Amino acid sequence: MSENLDLAAVIQKLRSARQVVALTGSGISAESGIPTFRGAEGLWRTYRAQDLATPEAFARSPKLVWEWYDWRRGLMAAKNPHAGHRVLAAWENRFSRFTLITQNIDGMHRRAGSKNILELHGNIWRMRCTQEGTVTENMDTPLSPIPPLCPDCGALMRPHVVWFGEPLDREVIHRASLLSAQCDLMLVVGTSAVVQPAASLPLSALDAGAPVVEINPEATPLTPYADFSLRGKAGDILPQIDSALFRVPRENGS
Ligand code: OAD
Repeated sequence: MSENLDLAAVIQKLRSARQVVALTGSGISAESGIPTFRGAEGLWRTYRAQDLATPEAFARSPKLVWEWYDWRRGLMAAKNPHAGHRVLAAWENRFSRFTLITQNIDGMHRRAGSKNILELHGNIWRMRCTQEGTVTENMDTPLSPIPPLCPDCGALMRPHVVWFGEPLDREVIHRASLLSAQCDLMLVVGTSAVVQPAASLPLSALDAGAPVVEINPEATPLTPYADFSLRGKAGDILPQIDSALFRVPRENGS
């Protein structure tokens, strides 16, 4: 009952919101079949981040790191965005200002049609020259050769993602922080809210007086601070909110 009340209250808040930010994490792609990091079958249960997702790991064995990313790329390419991703894409044209901030590197939001995205941790479909810093898009699955080399200078390419121990792109985190502090409402979808600096963005929204709505089947460290916790799957809840807000009522046919 109280969950229904929360849902109704969130819908009400969204009706009057002009600047909306959604912060997403790997949980939004779980229903597409892409593993999360910390759940029961999360990637960090099977793999050690320090062996695969750090600059040191890459320096030790670029081949091993690229093989892991190549495996993940293959897995992601075989999956599709779901209704939750599509709703967030459609909302770009529904609110005066809607920004998607994602920690995900899977590219699912783009595939669903989102354009206004801040990708905090980069994108697995891009690679960067370790010498010149040039970023190129590459959708090949599987990759060949592994590790890939820069077509211009022949140096090693690396995944254009943020690894543990690396800073985020300054411009991207700056814009994400500003938008979080300026929004009228923030949705936090499918993240365990433990990885910084992403985890502090909802706190900026709260500090600025904006309600924070968490959509997650599980409680997180953010839950006690969130104004509303909608316990459920992104692929169920986002379409429910969308149809309550934007569904065109059908005329009664007869
Ligand atoms: P986590 O794996 O830490 O958390 C996933 C969250 O999604 C959990 O809170 C789940 O309860 C929730 N979840 C699962 N299924 C869901 C569903 N259907 N709908 C909504 N929520 C669902 O993933 P992130 O928070 O994204 O960083 O992890 C943050 C960062 O840690 C990642 O970007 C990655 C990782 O290490 C880097 O690689 C730099």
